[in-house]
Amino acid sequence: MSDSRFYVTTPIFYVNDRPHIGTGYTMVATDVLARFHRAAGYDTRYLTGLDEHGQKIAQAAASQGLEPQAFVDKMARPFVDAWSLLDTSHEDLIRTTEPRHESGVQKLWKTVAERGDVYLGEYDGLYCIGCEAYYTEKDLQEGGLCPQGHGKVKKIKMPSYFFKLSQYTEPLLRFYEEHPDFVRPASRMNEVVSFVKEGLRDLSISRTNFSWGIPVPGDDKHVMYVWFDALSNYITALGWPEDPDGLYERYWPEAHHVIGKDILRFHAVYWPAMLLSAGLKPPRCVFAHGWLTINGRKMSKTLRNTVDPLALKWEFGNDPVRYYLMRDTVFGLDGDFSHDALIGRINSDLANDLGNLVNRSANLLHKLAGGRVPEKRQGGEKEAAVRARAETVTREAAEHFHAFEMSRAIESIWTLCAETNRFIQSSQPWTMKSEQDAPRRDACLYTMAEAIRQLGHMISPVMPEKGRQILTQLGLEAPPMSREPAWPSAWGELAPGTELPPASPIFPRIDKKSVPGIRTRLGVDRAEAGGEQKKEPGKEEKSGDGLIPIDHFGTVDLRVGIVLEAQPVPKTDKLLQISVDLGEDSPRTLVAGIAKSYSPADLVGKRIIVVANLKPAKLRGVESRGMLLAATYDGMPRVLTVDGEAPPGTKIS
Ligand code: MSP
Repeated sequence: MSDSRFYVTTPIFYVNDRPHIGTGYTMVATDVLARFHRAAGYDTRYLTGLDEHGQKIAQAAASQGLEPQAFVDKMARPFVDAWSLLDTSHEDLIRTTEPRHESGVQKLWKTVAERGDVYLGEYDGLYCIGCEAYYTEKDLQEGGLCPQGHGKVKKIKMPSYFFKLSQYTEPLLRFYEEHPDFVRPASRMNEVVSFVKEGLRDLSISRTNFSWGIPVPGDDKHVMYVWFDALSNYITALGWPEDPDGLYERYWPEAHHVIGKDILRFHAVYWPAMLLSAGLKPPRCVFAHGWLTINGRKMSKTLRNTVDPLALKWEFGNDPVRYYLMRDTVFGLDGDFSHDALIGRINSDLANDLGNLVNRSANLLHKLAGGRVPEKRQGGEKEAAVRARAETVTREAAEHFHAFEMSRAIESIWTLCAETNRFIQSSQPWTMKSEQDAPRRDACLYTMAEAIRQLGHMISPVMPEKGRQILTQLGLEAPPMSREPAWPSAWGELAPGTELPPASPIFPRIDKKSVPGIRTRLGVDRAEAGGEQKKEPGKEEKSGDGLIPIDHFGTVDLRVGIVLEAQPVPKTDKLLQISVDLGEDSPRTLVAGIAKSYSPADLVGKRIIVVANLKPAKLRGVESRGMLLAATYDGMPRVLTVDGEAPPGTKIS
């Protein structure tokens, strides 16, 4: 086991929302970092999780008429499913309702209290439920609005336990001075220092006006403030304080918290103060990344412009989307998500640059070297230049990954791609046909193949599947998804004589003609218009053969739904009223003419197919918001279901 260790965490996501491209962005970035560190030989641990307590969750549960525990159990599923489908390589996913977490947090509270840092008082001030944060007047936007866009903040007055945060002003400033890299990027460190220098006020850490939280030890009229509970996940997931598996001791000293810039204060001020109070070491680093907008607009449920990472996966595959997210935004700065830019990157960087290089090389190896890796020969200056570039890039890209500069690492890797393309062009191995040319030809082809192997290794943290496919093209046995190809890989490890499989393209181009269909399927126009569907009047495509173009099919939004409840519609023997989970905030009601074939109990739990974008219609006084699909044979309707697992809301295409 390596001595070098790396522990990377994501924020734990609130389960009142569903995974979207913003949370997906944090997951992809941390996954790239975890995969890079594993490849570079670090003993790595990668943690994500779900934030399931607090007033915001309690309210969301109540609005669905569910008990909070039932609500969080239901809402955790889409996250667990999404991360599994996106193939993120976390070793652990902690939920704050798990006993291992709750007992750890209570111990942390007791430790802080035993230090004399907790006292009972009264909170009389402002609170934003959307942020689960306390604010003062000067934090607010005009009109008393939350600075993060959650609307009007509330005034609350209640008995509360306080954490003596004010006493940590000096210790924190000292800690920042001794650890100038604690907050990254550096501009964020300055922000944190200025905030703390203004002086800290004690922090209210318990609530009495609702009960969905971890009880305060010794006073169960209070539940803990959700951030005291949530931040502790980073150590409770390692098994603190008992540390039965030694994970806390092994990984905590190398903890890197990757978070969005919106939650910096919690991580860079409150959390290290809590840890210092408990006599524990603060993490090594808090890295705040920027905010992802959609075509320049903030992503929000109200604007209906959130982008579903799974819809992107089904359309483009995981790796191209990961590549785009890591390449097009500078990690640490705000970035914009645009479908057109994504398609542009797929066609230019992936299909043109890397894809053509790999495919062309594989074809050349078949044509000129009999489908085997050629002899390893020294070659001349040109070969030496490619090798020198590969060695520089191996070092440079690793430095960038270590510094969390993913876009710069990719830029550096692409210089090897360009250099290798130029090298083939100028060497023209296809002209080296005679026996006499064999040494030159071997040197050229070996250099080309070896450069591609290096590219396969180096892009693997960003595009694990594509990296494996590239290595497979070179006849190499790619390591399983759970293990990264090692980094660095010394030049010349490709064994001459290795037999190569037939060449097959790895990065397909997206044809211009298919773009309108893609945009329709992904609801891009709606997302770009900020929720309002753009109409294209009079643009009907006619076809005399009765066939429709694919994008017409794409206008029907078919989704997987799970039947939660069913009941007969009174005064008819044909209709059932069904409540269906389509992965939305609340279930939908459908009315379906299937009572002849099904009793209500037969339907509950079935995964059915629903037309989700049908205009609502009233049937026998009940509004039906969608239509389920059924095949009627011999007068008996049979509902369509899904073969295998598919979470509610999964798009059918
Ligand atoms: N539950 C708290 C975090 C507790 S950590 C101890 C929370 N959860 S959240 O669900 O609101 O998710 C926060 C994180 O999701 C952000 O910090 C960020 O990492 C990610 N993002 C959510 N929307 C995002 C964008 N639009 N763009 C980039 N990241 C985004 O806060």
